[in-house]
This record gives sequence, C-alpha cells and structure tokens, in this order.
Amino acid sequence: MQFFLDSANLDDARRAMELGFVDGVTTNPSLMAAAGRPPLDVLDDLLETTPGPVFFQMTAHSLNEREQDAYTASERYVDRVVIKLPATTENMTLAHKLVADGLLVCITAVSHPSQAMLAGNVGAAYIAPYVNRLTQQMGDGLRVLSDCVKVLEGTSTQVLAASLKSTDEAVAAVLAGASAITIPLDLILAISEHELTYKAIAQFDEAVVLPST
Ligand code: G3P
Repeated sequence: MQFFLDSANLDDARRAMELGFVDGVTTNPSLMAAAGRPPLDVLDDLLETTPGPVFFQMTAHSLNEREQDAYTASERYVDRVVIKLPATTENMTLAHKLVADGLLVCITAVSHPSQAMLAGNVGAAYIAPYVNRLTQQMGDGLRVLSDCVKVLEGTSTQVLAASLKSTDEAVAAVLAGASAITIPLDLILAISEHELTYKAIAQFDEAVVLPST
C-alpha cells in the first residue's frame, strides 16, 4: 500500500521524507493557502523534497484554465505530478483528456461510488474519498469508501483514503479496502506508537540489565 503525507508545509514534507517510509505528498487548496506562497512554487519545492508523487489540485474556475494549469503543473515531472480534480462531470471530461495525454489524475472529494465508477472508466490513477468529512456529513464515510473499492475492482484506479483523523480511522480505511492513505505529519508520527510497545521494551531492557547486576 502507499502512504502519503497530507500537507503543503515544506518542513513537514522534509521531516516525513526523513522517515523513509512515506511515499509522497498530497496537497489541497486549503493546505496550499496555508503555505502562503504561490502554489506552483510550493509544488516545485515539494517535488524536490520527495522522490515520489506530489498531488496538486486544479482550482481555476474555467475548464480551459484548469486544462492549461494541469499541463503546466504536469510538465515538471509527468510521472510524479498527480493532477487532482474534484469529481464533477466537467472534470471527468477533462480527466479523460489528460489521461489520454499520459497525465496522472486523481479524482478527489469523491462522495459517492458512482463518481468512483466513472473515475475508473476515465482511467484516473487514484480516487480520493474524504472519509471523516463524509462520516460527519452523511453518517458513514467508511461505507462510501468500501463501495468505491468494490466498484473499482478490476480497474487500475487506486483508492486513496483522505481526511483521516485518527490511527483507528486510518486502519479502518485500509480494512475497508483503501490501497493508499494520506494523513498529516502528527498522525504519521503517532501511527506506529503504542504505550504497550514501550512497556514491552522496558521489560526487555530489564531482562537485559538483570544478569549483569
Ligand atoms: O487533502 C485532502 C483531505 O485529506 C483533507 O482532509 O482534514 O481537510 O478533512 P481534511
């Protein structure tokens, strides 16, 4: 499975890459706004920070502009810039064209399996359901996620679970069939920590120390 940092903060990205097990970086317009710099500059810096994919969302209001912006972003590294497009009919048409031209596309803010189904048909590399937001707004984001996984069976479209707020929710997303997850740095740093593991380490330490006393 793939494991991404969800952030447009360069310090976060550097720290995440130092860990070695983080595959790339996802961003969204809110995270880019928080970075406080031109989004394409942030994209360039993130591409330098990670050897993996960087997800970059199109925000222009006109379809033509989104198309131009997609090519402008993608030409940096066509095999590493993943163009994020929210799941609308217009963007499905754009995604179809971009995929035909060899660009990587992620259909994002997926809120219903019907959108996942179409994203699979247009050849998106990823779809991103916002699990926690869907749970807050509709009751069961994990159910939406698992239905997306089912409708995409047999396609090459990966389900990237986003908007995950806890270790348990991240695990539940993978159990529901996500093949990729994206989480912020604090959750990345927390996800492999457990107090019982430290208790076990302390017990092992005692066992190691005892014979020499
Ligand atoms: O980047 C997409 C998604 O992970 C955003 O999640 O935390 O704003 O609901 P959030």
